[in-house]
Amino acid sequence: MPISDIGLDKTLAARGVTQPGEVASLFASLRARFDGEAAAVHDEAAWKQLRDAWLGRKSGVLTLVTDNWLKPATPELKRAVGAGLNELRAHVDAQIEARRAAIESGSEEAALARDRVDLSLPGVIRPIGSRHLIRQVMQEIEDIFFSIGFSVVEGPEIETPYYNFEALNIPEFHPVRDDMDTFYLELPKGAPGPPASAGQLLLRTHTSPVQVRTMEKQQPPVRVIVPGKVYRRDNPDATHSFMFHQIEGLAVDTDITFCDFTGTIEYFVKQFFGPSVKTRFRPSYFPFTEPSVEFDVSCIFCGGSGAGANGATCGKCKGAGWIELFGAGMVDPAVYGFVNYDPKKVSGFAFGMGMDRLAMLKYGIDDLQVFFQNDIRFLKQFP
Ligand code: PHE
Repeated sequence: MPISDIGLDKTLAARGVTQPGEVASLFASLRARFDGEAAAVHDEAAWKQLRDAWLGRKSGVLTLVTDNWLKPATPELKRAVGAGLNELRAHVDAQIEARRAAIESGSEEAALARDRVDLSLPGVIRPIGSRHLIRQVMQEIEDIFFSIGFSVVEGPEIETPYYNFEALNIPEFHPVRDDMDTFYLELPKGAPGPPASAGQLLLRTHTSPVQVRTMEKQQPPVRVIVPGKVYRRDNPDATHSFMFHQIEGLAVDTDITFCDFTGTIEYFVKQFFGPSVKTRFRPSYFPFTEPSVEFDVSCIFCGGSGAGANGATCGKCKGAGWIELFGAGMVDPAVYGFVNYDPKKVSGFAFGMGMDRLAMLKYGIDDLQVFFQNDIRFLKQFP
């Protein structure tokens, strides 16, 4: 606001000020205004402007106050105006001198430099991310299973040995537990998670405990897939990690046969890798499936021939022409006993696949670790 707005060009009488008591607030607002302007002065040029505006002989604020307020004031007001003016002048003189000293000493320049905003600098660019490849693959897998009537359920990553092992027909001291060594936990008091009465806790080694949890809650027909993180005490290398992702599948009904099982899995694999891949089963063993199989696909890299470039053997399948994909089988009747299903009436199949492994095969990635390093050069190849 220009100085003229304060009404310095008018006499006090013209402004309707007649009582000495009204004078103090006029000076108080002048002083506040001066303080505001003085605080914004950080260099010599601005300081000179401030000085001239307030102390200038011809039209500085103090001169105008003397000429227009003091000199024409009525005898009743003169004392009050004189006192106010003296006080203001002393304050302005002192402050102007103090600002000069500060600017000369250089401290103001530093303060100014600190506050200065360089508008020519480029702004902060926050690139928009994309879904992680594992997420994308999870979605692809889910979509395929949605299309044939499966739905998604999830389960806890912190499990009890009962769900992770016992109810899956893996009693204590069963040798399978060696392959599934994991991290046992003690939760701090009050932390969210299973109650202390749940006993020992561990990070689940597979998504299979959710088979049991699902069947406990729901009567057949059951048709679910279970994506999620799992943990094992593995040292990280190109194909191992202490945390990885699985997707479990479970279908139980009154009339599910081995044919439904193979048909479902073949359908999935052909949807996921393309119609030209071939599939095969090999006998295997899991305590919670009977019979159990290991499921292979023809090598995606050499088309199943086992031959690599220039007559060498294919490095991915090591010349076998087949790649091991996942474990599966018909649900072992013993498992039904843990969830109160009647093994004479129901049958079903289950499978568990490594999502990271499926992603590596489909997208030609040869190191599992890149999924977890969050290197943008890797991530942005999968927008
Ligand atoms: N849970 C098994 C594993 O992690 C895989 C599996 C799931 C096997 C379901 C059979 C049935 O190795």
